[in-house]
Amino acid sequence: MNKYITTAIPYVNGEPHIGHAVDYCLADSAARYFRLRGDEVRFQAGTDEHGNKISLKAKELNIPVAEYVATNSNKFQEFIKKLNISYTDFIRTTDAAHKKRVQEIWRKLKDHIYMSKYEGWYCVGCERFVTDKEYVENHGNCPDHQKPYEKLSEENYYFRISDFKSRIVEAINNNEMQILPEYRKNEILKLIEDSPDVSISRPRSQLAWGVPVPDDDNQVMYVWLDALSNYITVLGYPDEEISAWWPATVQIVGKDILRFHAIIWPAMLLGLNLPLPKVILSHGMILANGEKMSKSIGNVINPVEVIERHGIDAFRYYFLRHVDTFADSDFTWEKFEEAYNNELANDLGNIVQRLSTLAAKNGFKMPDYLPEISTEYTDLMDKFEFSKAMDYIWTNLQDLNRRINDEKPWELAKNGDTEKLHNCLHSLISDLLNANLMLSPFLPNVTEKIEQIFASEIIPPEVPLFPKQ
Ligand code: MSP
Repeated sequence: MNKYITTAIPYVNGEPHIGHAVDYCLADSAARYFRLRGDEVRFQAGTDEHGNKISLKAKELNIPVAEYVATNSNKFQEFIKKLNISYTDFIRTTDAAHKKRVQEIWRKLKDHIYMSKYEGWYCVGCERFVTDKEYVENHGNCPDHQKPYEKLSEENYYFRISDFKSRIVEAINNNEMQILPEYRKNEILKLIEDSPDVSISRPRSQLAWGVPVPDDDNQVMYVWLDALSNYITVLGYPDEEISAWWPATVQIVGKDILRFHAIIWPAMLLGLNLPLPKVILSHGMILANGEKMSKSIGNVINPVEVIERHGIDAFRYYFLRHVDTFADSDFTWEKFEEAYNNELANDLGNIVQRLSTLAAKNGFKMPDYLPEISTEYTDLMDKFEFSKAMDYIWTNLQDLNRRINDEKPWELAKNGDTEKLHNCLHSLISDLLNANLMLSPFLPNVTEKIEQIFASEIIPPEVPLFPKQ
């Protein structure tokens, strides 16, 4: 079957941080899992490059904006490669093909677009129009960006969300468009109910860095309309037939941007007569020592430092297991190092070292073996319960470590009981290879190494897979 997986496209007004890694690690685990099951996968990533937030930053740094976004987009691409993300498509919203396609999308939505006056508030950090109610609730300051909302009074285009509200509510309620986790559903339904029609353009005098509205030189498209379209323009829409890949199997986003994906995006799709995504998965935020990570607090953790200190497998391991798939989770160096030493070094690393050394010393060769995955595992993976699937694999590994201790293959070796020893090693290594296969969507590098170590000629690693730190 064909599966299409998408990730949110980050703004390029800064460098990648560990929060950005969450989308990629989750999406990559889904992609590799589907491939393991025999599916064809298309997997999009990209960068969101328009809007005032970005052009203001470039101006502040005195760099031409096109150059600034190109440099930062490259940094994101390098980051994704460092994380060993198996994406198939990368889109930049400044790509000429994307811009042309977004303009065609606008034309197709024309019946649901009207001109009106916007009198209200805007947060450039969120790139979001803010209602009077929110303005009052937040005392005029954006809680996420700690900055006062800007007052806007301008003519712009509106998108008539009200044309689609009841269809979206129905699709969410009957799980045609499933919102994960389930507990966010009600919050989203309430937001839809309260959602007014949305502004989808700004006067050119207020926003120059964006896609021009077709047939109106005075207006530029709102950055979210442009950004959300990436999920289909990257497939070639509307120039190419996209039904082989669309609707998306799963769209992965942070909970902070779920509202855009569960309201404006489905409304756009319905306006285009396209089906809704099957699942929108919203993950939690990574906190640093219990606080939101932010440049102004100065607690942003640099992912490159984490990878350089402990390696990519440890990085992916922590973010996929100890960062809960759905809830907010904390990152601290202490927790990270504890997980590295206790779980990667003591559990997985140790099992590999013990079994491969015993096998090599006693002339045991592994006959052809096709590892198996269990239904407990597939049930969790099919529900995108990644951190729970990791817990499950780890329970298996800990059981295996216990079995090695109980069955004491080294004593069988000492007693010269070769047949018993070989049977015992065969069974233990088979279990390890089963766990290894289930782990492969999460930790592609180390699991490939383990597979090679236990290929018929068993060769123990010269240095432990996870040297104690
Ligand atoms: N440009 C928009 C997305 C447009 S998608 C059509 C945007 N960019 S972002 O750079 O702010 O965020 C990109 C992704 O990173 C989002 O899914 C966001 O939730 C995620 N994260 C950013 N900071 C995060 C954490 N601290 N923790 C977890 N995820 C975080 O929003």
